[in-house]
Formats: sequence, structure tokens, C-alpha cells
Amino acid sequence: MKHITALLLLSVVIVGLFIIGQLQSCKHEPVGLDKLSPVCFDTEILPIFQNSCAISGCHDNATRKAGFDASSYESIIKDVSPGDPAGSTVYKVLGSAYGNMMPPKSPLSVQSRVLIEVWIAQGAKKTTCGTNTNPPSSTDTICFVQNILPMLTSSCGITNCHDAASHQAGYTLTSYATLKQRTGAIIAGNPGASTIYRSMTASGEDIMPPSGALAATQLSTFNKWIMNGAQNSDCPTATCDTATTIKFSTQVWSIIQNNCLGCHNVSNASGGVNLSSYTQIKSYADNLRSGTPVLDGVIRQISGFSAMPLSYKLDICSIRKIELWIQQGEQNN
Ligand code: HEC
Repeated sequence: MKHITALLLLSVVIVGLFIIGQLQSCKHEPVGLDKLSPVCFDTEILPIFQNSCAISGCHDNATRKAGFDASSYESIIKDVSPGDPAGSTVYKVLGSAYGNMMPPKSPLSVQSRVLIEVWIAQGAKKTTCGTNTNPPSSTDTICFVQNILPMLTSSCGITNCHDAASHQAGYTLTSYATLKQRTGAIIAGNPGASTIYRSMTASGEDIMPPSGALAATQLSTFNKWIMNGAQNSDCPTATCDTATTIKFSTQVWSIIQNNCLGCHNVSNASGGVNLSSYTQIKSYADNLRSGTPVLDGVIRQISGFSAMPLSYKLDICSIRKIELWIQQGEQNN
């Protein structure tokens, strides 16, 4: 009888261990922590503790409930095991699995918890990133209106994803204002802590857009824009470079990639239109409607054509480049 009980116990333990193993493998761990930019204690972590914990009657310096003072680095670090979020009281109490979840009844946002987790995993240092370590140079300034907004609206701010009507997960990615409304979405100077950039560079099924990663050049543009302070910058082109033959590879493709591809790719061919290759783009330039190439009609937004991109109009220079490319024989140069 004793043997049977022991056997039963043993199998319960084995099954239990197996289940725990399974649970842990499903746990959402942030990817490649070492690759992320350092989380800044002063600007990103301390404000969370000050606003949510170090309040009067709770964990301010005067009250110190349960002996915990959340008002400074020196006092917070006492309950942190640097490098080990799961072993840090400060992080453990944020989860609902903990008996007395903190803050009581009003859990921190996922973004704040992830930031704290990453900060601890990175060694819980007293980092300050107030100064811009990567000031924009005049040649590689990334402009929100010209470089970032088109990418966001065409790849993210689309129906059933992050347009105003759907705003999945609370993200409306159709303007600077709505982008900034989402806490943690963009943290100026810190791409690695900006949830939008993190999801664009995530691995496996967490990646955004779900249809596949943005091109490396787009990601680096996004990264640079955040590093440079994530400003709502508008830099209309003073000169439109159309003097020489328009090149498909450097001039036309980038316009399509940034403004159209998100809605017109293999897995999301809106209206049956797929613009992911030269041949497909050329076919809409060759296809005439009332004497006008369909590609030209949609971007000039003339009647009889659907206005593209859906929610705005390309700048004059981009429209001109595409028209010239068509006139010059739609070369694959
Ligand atoms: C936010 C999503 C979105 C973006 C961005 C977008 N499209 Fe569209 N496009 C659609 C949808 C939806 C349709 C089908 C419904 C319609 O025709 O209005 C469509 C239809 C079209 C058509 C067929 C229209 C016709 O009149 O036959 C063409 C051609 C086209 N798009 C080209 C483009 C080009 C070029 C760009 C970039 C400059 C672009 N689209 C950007 C969503 C988008």
C-alpha cells in the first residue's frame, strides 16, 4: 500500500513538473534582451515607481509599507536581484500570481511591467538617458510626415488592425497624436523599449505586421527616428530629384514600399491588387482606364479611380516620379 502511494505521489510530481515546463515554454519572454537598447532608470523606471507605488500611505519615503520605499533607486534596488526579474520581489509582486498583487486592484500596464522586467534583466542599473546620444545630422534626418507616417498607415493603420475603428490592443497607428496616446508605444531615444519597435523586431508569431517583418531599411529608418527623439517632424522636399531617368530600384520602389505595400502584398492583396514586385507594379502602369494608367489614376486620385493610398495623398514629388517612370518606359533599372 505504501508503495502504491509513493508511486502515485511520484507520478503526480512528474506530471506536475511536465505541466510547469509547458507553462514556462509558453511564457512570453521578451526576445534578445541583450540586443535591446538599455532601459533608462531615471526616465522610464523611476516614474513608474513614483506614480504607482511611492504614494502617500503606501510606499513613499514616510510610510514605507511592508518596509518598502519606492521613491529612489537606492531604496528600490534593495528588493531587486539584478539580472533575475523572476527572483526580484519588486517584479514578482506585479503579477496576479502573487498573493498581494501590487498596486492593489490596479495592475500596472503590460508595457510598464515589461519595462521593469527588461530593466532588471539588463542588470537593474541606475541608467540615465536624458541626453540625446545620437543627435540627428542634417543628412540622415528622418522626418515623421515623410518617412514614418506612410509606413505606419500603410503597414499598421489598416482595417482590422490599427486603424481608428479597430485599434487592436489599443494602438491606433494613423497619426502622430494617436501614436503618442499609447503609453510606451514610442519612447524617444530608446527603440528597444518602445513597444512598437519591439513588436516589429520580435521573433516568431509575435512579429508585427503579422504578415511578415518590414524591410530592414524600414526598420532602420524607424530605429533612427526614435533614436533621434521621435519628433513630429515635417520636412517637405525643397527640390524634387527628377532631372535624370527615374530609377525603379531607388525611387519608385521606395514609394510603393512605404505607401502601398502594407495593403497590397501577397497575403493582403486589397481589392485583389498585389504590388510586391516590379512585374506587378508595371502591370498597373500598363493597364489603361479611359486612357490613363491605373497606377497614375489612383495616386493622382482622379475620378473613376479609387483614391490611393486610402487615407491621404502622396506628395507631389512622389506622384511626379511615378508618372515620369511610366513615361520613360517603366524600366526595371
Ligand atoms: C490602407 C490600405 C491601402 C493603402 C495604403 C493603399 N491601398 Fe490601394 N487599395 C486598397 C483597397 C481596400 C482597395 C480596394 C477597394 C478600392 O478599390 O477602393 C485598393 C485598390 C487599389 C487599386 C485598384 C483601384 C482601381 O480603381 O481599380 C490600385 C491600383 C491600388 N489600390 C493601388 C495602390 C497604390 C499604388 C497605393 C500606394 C500609393 C495603394 N494602393 C495604397 C487599400 C489600400
